[in-house]
Amino acid sequence: EKGEFRHFMLKEIYEQPRVMQAVLEGRTASGRLLEQAFGSEAGAIFDQVKQVQIVACGTSYHAGMVAKYWIEELVGIPCMVEVASEFRYRPVVLPEGTLLLTLSQSGETADTLAALREVKDRVLATLAICNVPGSSLVRESDLCLMTNAGPEIGVASTKAFTSQLVALMLTTLALGRRHGLSDETETELVAALEQLPGLLQQLLALDGPIEQMSAHFAEKHHALFLGRNVLYPVAMEGALKLKEISYIHAEAYPAGELKHGPLALVDKEMPVVAVAPRNGMLDKLKANLQEVKARGGELFVFAGCEESVQSEPGMQVIHLPAQPSILDPIAFTLPLQLLSYHVAVLKGTDVDQPRNLAKSVTVE
Ligand code: M6R
Repeated sequence: EKGEFRHFMLKEIYEQPRVMQAVLEGRTASGRLLEQAFGSEAGAIFDQVKQVQIVACGTSYHAGMVAKYWIEELVGIPCMVEVASEFRYRPVVLPEGTLLLTLSQSGETADTLAALREVKDRVLATLAICNVPGSSLVRESDLCLMTNAGPEIGVASTKAFTSQLVALMLTTLALGRRHGLSDETETELVAALEQLPGLLQQLLALDGPIEQMSAHFAEKHHALFLGRNVLYPVAMEGALKLKEISYIHAEAYPAGELKHGPLALVDKEMPVVAVAPRNGMLDKLKANLQEVKARGGELFVFAGCEESVQSEPGMQVIHLPAQPSILDPIAFTLPLQLLSYHVAVLKGTDVDQPRNLAKSVTVE
């Protein structure tokens, strides 16, 4: 039931602090990952993993793209990510020691299941990160990690995505241990994950300012989303949410690609949303933002800390609370979910059941 909320999507956005707790519950202790969370056979399998192939669709694919950055940075082994509908129909190369990692809220997505069935006999092992216990994906995989987000009713995936990210960070820790990730770093990362419920609660307080911001989008036909590094897939997810429920055409680019084409589209009718953390990429992103402003584009920036960027004419900035940078992909997602939600409400669309879409895509 929706309870006090107008839509399931809003309820599910607001459930995220609790969901963060649920996905961590029983998976960590004394600042360390409990590997049994992946099942009793997981340890022996993880010992042999030399690379990871992630396969998923839609929002789950975006979670996989975030994991690529984490796995290559913190584990130091190759990680490939592909949408299932492409992966299943091409002769893929799967080097020895490949862990096939599928991601799916429903566990019933036709392309993801078909991809698993296609290659399961050619990989070291299969791991499913999934939200529905007993689903086909879970039953047919060697290992699974449930996201424990509870039923997701809104067609637009929200809490399933952020819980997948936590599950992916736990997977990164399990693999990292075997490739030189120190106990100290693991403890630091677990401590950061444990801050998530409180952090997401604080982020929900941005709902008012984000609702105000949404008015600038309701009359527009297009929007661009920019991010760099691990926030590039988050920008993709923000764009997918906006198009899915508000029917505004939205595209995401890595900010560095702006000059290679999309800048030609920018004028005052094209709002540009940027996600700007406070890591080394910030200065580069700031230069990209100036390029947008110079062309009359209206900018909407979600920034990692007060000092990074300030509001000015043509640029509205919403600052996120301070948090460990490893949480950036999760933290920056929630405001983008709220933005698309409020734009859709202003436009009067059927938020929970957008036209032409089904919650679970069980046919190709
Ligand atoms: O159940 P799955 O995670 O496998 O679903 C994959 C996509 O169909 C799904 O994420 C879709 O893109 C959502 N409607 C996005 O909000």
